[in-house]
Amino acid sequence: MIELQHVSLRRGQHEVLKDISLNIPAGRITAVVGRSGVGKTSLLGALNGLLTPGSGSITVDGVGALDSTENLRRHRQRTATIFQNHALIDRLSAFDNVLLGLADQRHPLSPLPWPEKFRQLAAGALDRIGLLHRAHARVDCLSGGEKQRVGVARALIRQPSLLLGDEPFASVDPSLIRQMGNTLREQVADSGMTVVLVMHQIDTALNIADRIVALVDGRIGFNGDSRDFDPAAQAEVFGNVDERTQTCMTDL
Ligand SMILES: Nc1ncnc2c1ncn2[C@@H]1O[C@H](COP(=O)(O)OP(=O)(O)O)[C@@H](O)[C@H]1O
Ligand SMILES: [Mg+2]
Repeated sequence: MIELQHVSLRRGQHEVLKDISLNIPAGRITAVVGRSGVGKTSLLGALNGLLTPGSGSITVDGVGALDSTENLRRHRQRTATIFQNHALIDRLSAFDNVLLGLADQRHPLSPLPWPEKFRQLAAGALDRIGLLHRAHARVDCLSGGEKQRVGVARALIRQPSLLLGDEPFASVDPSLIRQMGNTLREQVADSGMTVVLVMHQIDTALNIADRIVALVDGRIGFNGDSRDFDPAAQAEVFGNVDERTQTCMTDL
């Protein structure tokens, strides 16, 4: 479990997270939803230790409070992040990009080939996301959705305790989203890893996640079981767009 207590965070002049208190359960998939600019990416940054809250605390089971260099180092070792912009190396193959997920387990200047055990893990990760046939393609020859899936494989190969994803399915085909959602759920069931995914599509979030955290202007608008994030709860958090449209049409 990850516990946030009264977390506030500024970026530039702007307070983007405002007094957030939240428990993220272990072994579950939590989706963070909300409009653009509400602070979703900033929340993930705080969870992976790349952004430091101005006040409040974040405590991770098995690590402790993320307030010391040693705890942050241990937390990062156990965490993998799928970045919004893929953060892949274009001139390398899909296979080599996935192997880079394990870069911290090998000397950066090692002239030796990757050990067979790591290569098998990389092939397995690409297979799970349905891209084994593209293993040797350079990443700059892949589509946006394929790149995103390589980013997912690179995160999964780390067998992390905590998987964070920033809109990991944004440019993936709807039919593949379901498949990747199932792959993730299987991994969660097998390994007990904790997953936090930022998603802008509510439908996808409801399909994949056990829990929903909805952010509204840096605060929590909803935090609960995804089954309880029904249209009424969504309308309460985001406002009822349909109703407003109808009112405008009646006005006309
Ligand atoms: N590096 C930055 N410096 C200053 N402000 C930033 C920076 N990054 C993001 N912001 C601002 O913080 C707010 C939250 O951003 P972000 O967490 O990226 O939102 P989201 O992911 O929900 O779209 C936005 O108003 C954004 O403009
Ligand atoms: Mg974002």
